[in-house]
Amino acid sequence: MTAQRKDDHVRLAVEQQRRPGGHNQFDDVRFVHHALAGLDRADVSLATAFAGLSWPVPLYINAMTGGSEMTGAINRDLAIAARETGVPLASGSMSAYFKDPGCAGTFSVLRTENPAGFVLANVNATASVDQARRAVDLIRADALQIHVNTVQETVMPEGDRSFSSWVPGIGKIAAGVEVPVIVKEVGFGLSRETVLLLESLGVRAADLGGRGGTDFGRIENGRREHADYGYLTGWGQSTAACLLDTQDAPIPVLASGGVRTPLDVARALALGASGAGVSGTFLRTLLDDGVTALIARITTWLDQLAALLTLLGARTPAALTHRDLLIHGELRDFCVDRGIDTRPFARRSAGPQHRTGHTR
Ligand SMILES: Cc1cc2nc3c(=O)[nH]c(=O)nc-3n(C[C@H](O)[C@H](O)[C@H](O)COP(=O)(O)O)c2cc1C
Repeated sequence: MTAQRKDDHVRLAVEQQRRPGGHNQFDDVRFVHHALAGLDRADVSLATAFAGLSWPVPLYINAMTGGSEMTGAINRDLAIAARETGVPLASGSMSAYFKDPGCAGTFSVLRTENPAGFVLANVNATASVDQARRAVDLIRADALQIHVNTVQETVMPEGDRSFSSWVPGIGKIAAGVEVPVIVKEVGFGLSRETVLLLESLGVRAADLGGRGGTDFGRIENGRREHADYGYLTGWGQSTAACLLDTQDAPIPVLASGGVRTPLDVARALALGASGAGVSGTFLRTLLDDGVTALIARITTWLDQLAALLTLLGARTPAALTHRDLLIHGELRDFCVDRGIDTRPFARRSAGPQHRTGHTR
């Protein structure tokens, strides 16, 4: 069942990606253009550091596959693409391995093909500490993701209906594994309140996993006999909204969910993310055009991201948090209701002394 579900997810997620996307709230985030950025491309570094971890680039391939023959082959290609481009790579949920150790090779290929890369293991919040340790050991993971996906489970015909064990479970795993733990949503977003709770549980970073990209409500609804949960479409907060909501977060945040272009990566970094994760759109490139095309695409993204930092006068990803941003549309409405003042974002490059008492 788990292997078949995995293959269904790949098929339905790639179908979503093949249809042209509509509005994404990253479109409501604009950089103020300053024509004299005054920086040379050679002086830009894409390196990022957070939660005691160092990554060469602020872009990663987020959790997707493993557990079936087809998804093992996808993992092999993703690992090759990660190795050739230097991007960190997360495994898909490793619960299939706990049920059937015979599928271990579909996950361990992530490490064998990419021995020196940064690799993340992935479990759900009901995994035991022992299972979490086995997941980390199998792929010699540098960090562990715990995914939280209550909407997906609710719509999934065979999904979990009980979530009370998740909070204590996350705390036990965070205390019981040797590597940093990152909790991630799968596309409905982590709120500020949830990120505060995660910090109290010993979680080291939060992958906000917001709305705007792969929609697991729709994917699971498509697997239901009567597709009767269609009304949940649009549930959750966009990734851009999550980033604005967690400006004062006590732990670092990563941005994923609907990251479509290098400009979306730059927007996410400017809104405070330590890195941006991509799943569905890279999976479509791999399945439609092959691993060479995926390597070329990631290489182009990294090249253009460095170009955007140069254009914006930012030597590092973190320097983007001092660049001026305009927040428009529904995203601005979200900020008003959540008590987030968007005006200081528009005047960040002038420094703090120029931001106060300045009304136009
Ligand atoms: C085919 C597929 C399988 C996925 N499986 C997992 C998984 O096993 N564990 C997990 O944490 N997230 C999983 N995800 C969710 C992604 O990691 C990511 O959070 C989500 O797709 C939103 O990013 P995107 O809009 O770039 O696709 C999966 C995504 C896809 C497309």
